[in-house]
Amino acid sequence: MLLLGIETSCDDTATAVVRDGRVALSNVSTNQDAFHAKFGGIVPEIASRQHVALLGAAVQDALERASATLAELDGIAVTAGPGLIGSLVVGVASAKALAFASGKPLYAVNHLHGHIFAPFLESGVEPEYPFLALLVSGGHSQLVHVASPLDLRVVGRTRDDAAGEAFDKTARLLGLPFPGGPAIDRLAREGNPAAFAFPRHRAEGASLDMSFSGLKTSVKYFLESRAGRGANRADVAASFQAAVVDVLIDRLGRAARRGAYRAAVLSGGVAANSELQSAFARWGRRAGIPALVPHLRFCTDNAAMIAAAADRQGEAVRADPLTLSADPNLPFEPLGLAATP
Ligand code: KG4
Ligand code: ZN
Repeated sequence: MLLLGIETSCDDTATAVVRDGRVALSNVSTNQDAFHAKFGGIVPEIASRQHVALLGAAVQDALERASATLAELDGIAVTAGPGLIGSLVVGVASAKALAFASGKPLYAVNHLHGHIFAPFLESGVEPEYPFLALLVSGGHSQLVHVASPLDLRVVGRTRDDAAGEAFDKTARLLGLPFPGGPAIDRLAREGNPAAFAFPRHRAEGASLDMSFSGLKTSVKYFLESRAGRGANRADVAASFQAAVVDVLIDRLGRAARRGAYRAAVLSGGVAANSELQSAFARWGRRAGIPALVPHLRFCTDNAAMIAAAADRQGEAVRADPLTLSADPNLPFEPLGLAATP
């Protein structure tokens, strides 16, 4: 199956052509960071205007790089939610128009499901079920039990900030540029992760939930204290990062002990974090199960992952090109809600 993927849920204008949910014949992403950086965060109105300006050429570009034509496609997969409404609407409207004009099937994909299938792009690895996914992005941090492409259940989540949000907010406290995750990752390489003992959220009873807002607040108070004002910023970054990684790996380990998992998957923008990747790989070796991470270009938002999910979810996410609506709060489950007018 040859699918065109379109992803505009946040600030990346992304398109891709993917064969059989595995081979990314093209993967185009126009990052808008330069437009948002001076505001220290994403400005929704700017994001949607940029999508309008960029998406037409991005679709053309993805097709050309894949040496494919609209007529050769087997369908069009688009992110229907969750995300910023103004941004989602641009991708959904374009996908509906392309599907209607070409008569090709339209697939409405949940952005988070896309992240979960990203590790199976260009990796030669096929999903074996059930697998456990640790999904960590700017908007979400959750543990997902994946019994099949059509049966995904959230078993643990953050109670407040997403892991990526904690990185972005802490980077701001440290005076680092937006987006903060990559900046902290780089700075932390020069620091000592054991320099400061920032608090780790402890698991409560049988819950697999996590929390990061207390950690961020504690870094804030520390930086305002006398000791903090003179502290080495690389040490603060490394110590903060170590605390996030500890909490994530702790909850992952607890979740993994509850099921006979064939693999674990790390995905979402924060999966690009070098320390988290190393800790995840070490954990996988200890636990004795394959620990899969997407290629860097498929970690952060991209359209190939949307096509990868649509390929596996098929008819369950088929949508009507005349009635599909973007849903900024699209629920993670049940599947196929996006396809219901
Ligand atoms: O998945 P994503 O591209 O967009 C959302 O759906 O949210 O994730 C973006 C998030 C941002 O918070 C960014 O700071 C974080 O991923 N991020 C990182 C790294 N690269 C991106 N966080 C930590 N370390 C990184 N290397
Ligand atoms: Zn994302």
